[in-house]
Amino acid sequence: MNTGFIGAGNLARAIVLGLLEKGVFASSDINCVSGSGTTATALSKETGIGLAASRLELLAQSETVVLAFKPQHLDTITEEEGATAKDALIISVLAGRTVASLRSAFPSARNVVRVMPNTPSRIGKGVSAYCFENPPSSNDRQLVESILGALGSNYEVKESQMHIVTAVSGCGPAVFFQFIDFIAKAAQDHGLDYSLAAKLAIETGIGSLELMKQSGQTPSELVDEVVSPNGVTYALLEQLRQDKWESTLESAINSAVARSTELSQPL
Ligand SMILES: NC(=O)c1ccc[n+]([C@@H]2O[C@H](COP(=O)([O-])OP(=O)(O)OC[C@H]3O[C@@H](n4cnc5c(N)ncnc54)[C@H](OP(=O)(O)O)[C@@H]3O)[C@@H](O)[C@H]2O)c1
Repeated sequence: MNTGFIGAGNLARAIVLGLLEKGVFASSDINCVSGSGTTATALSKETGIGLAASRLELLAQSETVVLAFKPQHLDTITEEEGATAKDALIISVLAGRTVASLRSAFPSARNVVRVMPNTPSRIGKGVSAYCFENPPSSNDRQLVESILGALGSNYEVKESQMHIVTAVSGCGPAVFFQFIDFIAKAAQDHGLDYSLAAKLAIETGIGSLELMKQSGQTPSELVDEVVSPNGVTYALLEQLRQDKWESTLESAINSAVARSTELSQPL
């Protein structure tokens, strides 16, 4: 079963490395092609996957096609290329490109899947949300879950939920990174080196999130376990409450949803 990647940059590389490492596919089952050819040649050399001479050649030989170029490149898919993907399963990681726009580029594909991955996918710790255009066969569902499994965990959602998913898990890594930066900067003012403060904050984040995942307790139950009445954590959280951080985050999520909605409108 041949799987072809159009686009061989960061995300395609992460998927291919994960698929080979987990033994989902052999390198002989995968081909790639890119714009200038630079990234596809490099990925082919690094992993042993095949290098197609053109997008058309790749589409002609693939039963599953992963679109991993920039969202605007979808508009460069020609009618001939679209028709060549007859009966292929099209999996797109292109931010903001709807199932309808994918279908319009690939009118005779057997199904199309829209995916929102996130950047921790680069180390196999990502989370992806996906939606199918049409109810998939069990083989296609398994195939999509195996391919996305190379990047971390994955969950099926409705297409109408993609904007909020984008805000939560697509943008989410930036929120956590920014959070660590703010904490480390504030700690600097109290005499701790930025790098040590960042390490403390990062390890605290990793440990706390793993505890939340493993304990099965709700976030608020875990908050209650750390807070003692009128203690230090209480003082910190009370200040955050007074500074309205809940409504700040709510408006930030609302802005992300609004921008995602705007970006997915047809031009
Ligand atoms: N990285 C993430 O975690 C993440 C998260 C969410 C969504 N996404 C989505 O994933 C997609 C890929 O992101 P990325 O980070 O992997 O980008 P990237 O590293 O910049 O790679 C882009 C790839 O597209 C190729 N390309 C350029 N023009 C092309 C064309 N006309 N036809 C075919 N391929 C072409 C490039 O090839 P050459 O450089 O060789 O010309 C390169 O292989 C984007 O659409 C993005 O929205 C990524």
